Amino acid sequence: MTDIPEDSLLRQSLTQDYPRIVRGEGHYLIDDQGRRYIDGASGGVGPCNIGHGVKEIVEAMAQQASTLAFAHISMYENEPQVALANKLCNELAPPGMVKAYFTSTGTEANELCIKLARLYHLCRGHATKTMIITRWGGYHGSSIAATSYSGRSNRRHDLHPYYFPVVHLEPPYCYQCPYNKTYPECGLDCAGALERAIRQVGPEQVSCFITEPIGNTMGCVAPPDEYFPIIRQICDKYDVIMIADEVITAFGRTGKYFAMNHWNIIPDLIATGKGISSGYSPLAATLIHEKIWQVLDESKRSLPGFTYGGNPLSCAVGLAAQEYIQKHNLVERSAKMGEYMHRKAQQELSDLPMVGDIRGGKGLYMGIEYVQDKETHQPYPVELNLCGQIGDGAFKNGLGTCPISGGVDGILGDVSVIKPPFVIPQEDIDKLIEIMKQTILQVSATIG
Ligand SMILES: Cc1ncc(COP(=O)(O)O)c(C=O)c1O
Repeated sequence: MTDIPEDSLLRQSLTQDYPRIVRGEGHYLIDDQGRRYIDGASGGVGPCNIGHGVKEIVEAMAQQASTLAFAHISMYENEPQVALANKLCNELAPPGMVKAYFTSTGTEANELCIKLARLYHLCRGHATKTMIITRWGGYHGSSIAATSYSGRSNRRHDLHPYYFPVVHLEPPYCYQCPYNKTYPECGLDCAGALERAIRQVGPEQVSCFITEPIGNTMGCVAPPDEYFPIIRQICDKYDVIMIADEVITAFGRTGKYFAMNHWNIIPDLIATGKGISSGYSPLAATLIHEKIWQVLDESKRSLPGFTYGGNPLSCAVGLAAQEYIQKHNLVERSAKMGEYMHRKAQQELSDLPMVGDIRGGKGLYMGIEYVQDKETHQPYPVELNLCGQIGDGAFKNGLGTCPISGGVDGILGDVSVIKPPFVIPQEDIDKLIEIMKQTILQVSATIG
C-alpha cells in the first residue's frame, strides 16, 4: 500500500527526504528549523556563483519587474537583453563570439547549438552533415533530444525508444581511463577517437561534436592539456562544428570566465546557463562565433524561440549578476580560493579511507572520487549508493554537496562534487574540508 501523501507536491526523487530550505545568505542555506548549512554546491547543481541574498540583484529584479517584466522576443526587443548580449560578446566571451541568443535553460541553449550547427551545414550546401558526436558520461540537458546526445547512462536507460542516432566517444578520464592506458604514454587515444569516428561515419555525414570542457556529471573530470587543441584541429580538418557546453563552467566556476580559456580554445558555439544569472532567475545563452553568424545572417532564417527566452526580467538579473562578478573580481577570487580548496583537500583528505582521487585546482570546483581499492581504482558496488550516503552524511554535518554516481561506466562510480559560491571565506573552506573529513570517516566506519 502506498502512503497517502501529506501534500500534493511531486518531488524529483521518490525515495529521498527533502529538507525545506527557507532562506539563503551568502554561502549559507537555512532550513525551516533554522539550521544553517554551508552551500558547498551553490544551490545543489551549481548556479549560485555570487551567493544568496545579494541586495544589488534583488534591486535590479524589483526595478525591472516594475518597469517591464515581459514582451516576447519574436516581436519586441528589450534593453536588458541587448545590454547583456553586448556585455557577453564584447567583454566576457572568448574572441570571435559575436552574437548571444537567450533561452531559459542550459538544455535549450545546447539544443540551439545543435540546430545552428545543422543550419550552418545546410546553408552551405552540405545537407548530409547531420550526425552529432558526443561523449559517454556527458550531460547536456534533460529533454529527450538532449538526453539523446548526452551520455549519462543511468539517466538514459528508460527512454531508449525515443532517441535519435548519435555517436558516443569514450571521454578523457585519466583516473579511470576507458582505454586502460596511462597518460602521457597513451598518446591521447581519447582525442584521436574523434577523428576515427568522423572517418568511420563519413566526414560528409558529421555535423558537430558537443563536449563539456570539464565533465560535471562524471565528477569534475578535466582532460589532459593536449586534449582540446587536438579536438579543435580535428573539427577544423573535417568541417565539424565544435560545441562547448559551458552551462556549468562559464562565468568563473573554473577560475576563468570560460573553461575553454584554460586551453586557449575558441569553440564555434558555446552553451551557457546557470551562473549567467547566479540562480536568481532562469536564464541561459548560446554564444555564436562569427563563422556561424555570417552563414546564419546570409540565410535570413529565424531562430526557434521559447516563451520566456530573453525575457527582460531574467536579462536584467543576468546583467546585474555579471556586473556584480566584475565589480567584486569574483572570477579571480574563484581561481585563488579554488587553488586553496584543492590544496587543503589534498592535505586533509587524500589519506582517508575510500578517497581515490581529488581533482580540481581550476576555480572553486572539485571532485572527490571514492574507490574500494586505491591501487586498482575499483569503484564501490552501485547498491551501496556510497556518494548518496556521503551526501546525506555531509548534510547532517552542515554541508550541502553534489553527489554524482555512474561516472566510471554509466553505472559504477561515486564522487562528491564541491562547488561553493565564489564569496565563501577561507575559514569556511577549512570548515567545509573538515566536514568532508568527518563524514568520510563516519561513512567508512559503517561500511567496514
Ligand atoms: C554541463 C551541463 N549542461 C547542460 C545542463 C542542463 O541545464 P538545465 O538544467 O538548465 O537545462 C546542465 C545542468 O546541470 C549541465 O551541468
